[in-house]
Amino acid sequence: MNESLKPFLALADAVIITNEKHQILAVNKTYECITGFPSDLIVGKKASILRTRLTPDETYIGMYESLNSGSPWSGIFTNRKRDNSLWHSSITISPFFIEGNTYYVGVFRELEQLDRGYYLDEQRVSSIQASLLKVLAISCEIRDPGIESHLVRVQQLTELLTERYNERCGLNMPSLELAGFSRSSILHDIGKSAIPEGILYKPGRLADYERTIIEMHTVIGVDIIGKIYSELDDEIFENELSTAKNIILHHHEKWDGTGYPHGLKGTDIPLEARIVSVVDVFDALISKRPYKEKWPISDAMQYLNTNKGKHFDPELVDSFLTLYEEGMLLPESDT
Ligand SMILES: [Fe+2]
Ligand SMILES: [Fe+2]
Repeated sequence: MNESLKPFLALADAVIITNEKHQILAVNKTYECITGFPSDLIVGKKASILRTRLTPDETYIGMYESLNSGSPWSGIFTNRKRDNSLWHSSITISPFFIEGNTYYVGVFRELEQLDRGYYLDEQRVSSIQASLLKVLAISCEIRDPGIESHLVRVQQLTELLTERYNERCGLNMPSLELAGFSRSSILHDIGKSAIPEGILYKPGRLADYERTIIEMHTVIGVDIIGKIYSELDDEIFENELSTAKNIILHHHEKWDGTGYPHGLKGTDIPLEARIVSVVDVFDALISKRPYKEKWPISDAMQYLNTNKGKHFDPELVDSFLTLYEEGMLLPESDT
């Protein structure tokens, strides 16, 4: 190791120095104390031996990108100590170019407040929430055998359409909000869990009173989600709850005000509900149901186009059409 890097080892924080192949060249006393690894045990090894799966791959990808371009990088690592316990730290790695060689100096600061529990970055929290919502949505509609694939497709299509609409209209929606729309879209019909099967799956025409009962799945769904989230009682779920409620309550509203339950019109219908309305109808059309065959995608697109400005937000249908033209929509469903 180059002599000029030695002063870094005198820092009070934990320090690790590697070469350009990320082989450990030196660690300081604080590093040895915190991790329990004496330097002679880890010097010469690859720094990746300290990794755990609790640090997401994206963290490493971002780190290598930044370091390979010659820039410093900061982030959060969850590594293992020698006694196998976890060590959460905030680290800054700086590249140094000395006499034709590259060195990386990593300075760690322990995140003491995480002595108990795990550090979870936003992406990981988001994926855990998504899995929980999926389980919830599927268990609410467990009586319908094809429901899982429908819900997953609605979620994927909501993500695609939200992103495309956001780009086309230059809305600059924050990525967390975008992710929230697709995550919550899976819940759109949870209120159907309270509708009697005889009405829900009745082949043929429904009587007026049966239709009224089915339409209640929107308000019942909001009631269910409200109860679940009040149990969670945590402010990180607050935004999530309002998006989910908007989708559940308003996904059957129509652009011209003839939908239910509130007969909202145009942009009075929350955007997330307008988006789910387009993709939910689209996926229902291209899927086989007990009372209908599946439609070809081109016919379903034609249907959306004919009903834009009546049932659907015209801008959203146009955005959806661009996805279709670019071959971004999923293949026809077999269910
Ligand atoms: Fe619905
Ligand atoms: Fe649906």
